[in-house]
Amino acid sequence: MSVFAQFSEGKVDPHSDFARALVAGLTAPEKSIPCRFLYDAAGSALFERITTLPEYYPTRTETGILRARAAEIAADAAPGNVLIEFGSGSSTKTELLLAEMHDLYAYVPVDISRAALRDAQARIRQRFPGIVVLPVCGDFSRPLALPTQIARRPRLGFFPGSTIGNLTNDAAVDLLANMALILGTGARLIIGADLKKDVNRLLRAYDDAAGVTAAFNLNLLKRANRELGTDFDIDQFDHLATYDEDKGRIEIYLVSQADQTVSLLGRKIRFAAGEKIHTEDSHKYDIAGFQALAKRAGWRPLKVWTDPERLFSVHVLEAE
Ligand code: SAH
Ligand code: AVI
Repeated sequence: MSVFAQFSEGKVDPHSDFARALVAGLTAPEKSIPCRFLYDAAGSALFERITTLPEYYPTRTETGILRARAAEIAADAAPGNVLIEFGSGSSTKTELLLAEMHDLYAYVPVDISRAALRDAQARIRQRFPGIVVLPVCGDFSRPLALPTQIARRPRLGFFPGSTIGNLTNDAAVDLLANMALILGTGARLIIGADLKKDVNRLLRAYDDAAGVTAAFNLNLLKRANRELGTDFDIDQFDHLATYDEDKGRIEIYLVSQADQTVSLLGRKIRFAAGEKIHTEDSHKYDIAGFQALAKRAGWRPLKVWTDPERLFSVHVLEAE
């Protein structure tokens, strides 16, 4: 079926955010796809599997830090506050905070993945029936319409997972500055930042033996086939994770295994054998470097916690 026939049947929207980003990213001299598109329903489910992998230390390490500090975070929160979480995903770590926050007005999870929000909302409502959950589906790097019910309420921000590391440093500063505006002067942000460490440990975390991270990355092409009618041959692309010492970041790519041509919304996109599509960065910080980044965005570092191996850090910041 042609793209136009699919569109007329309402299956393909050539003006969707994904369609526009894919055309822009795959017609550029250096091909790339923005990492926010990794999270459709299948991608969110694959990410949840990543969080349980033996090689993927960030989730269990940050969860340990938060478990130890949840009561302290809750004690520092203003009465009647609203907990706003950015990139909430499954909201699993959030449960540690919700269990301690006895005077919370509402929980506002913000995520681009509708499926993740729906599942998290159902589970939180069941486990914490007294908590008002007001989900917001959208891109946190663009202006967001927050629920009117939370106007003039004190706000506590939560941004775990080191999702901040998926942005370039300049974009991270812009996002943090925008969060300061959303949360208000004097508000606090609890934010996770993954730390620099042995390169082989990093590479294993982003190229696991079971191939789940590879499936998560390749799902971008499957998503394009499903939503945009492209004809990517998934077997002709490989997952690649590298570490750039200078930039302090893991970089993830899809690598074309052959000379090939893919149809994208009426265009032919050519790939040479070995050509890469850049699909994600994951920055790794040292504590002082992360605090400097936060300060550039108008946040004052108040506290920082880490684990005994110093794999991961959780920061408490205050908006100036
Ligand atoms: N906070 C969870 C999930 C981290 S995975 C944890 O710590 O485990 C990153 C999450 O951010 C995903 O749920 C993804 O859908 C969401 N996300 C990624 N880019 C986004 C964007 N630009 N706007 C909103 N949500 C985004
Ligand atoms: C969501 N984000 C912080 C993850 C990370 O570690 O950068 C996404 C991820 N990509 C591959 N594995 C996990």
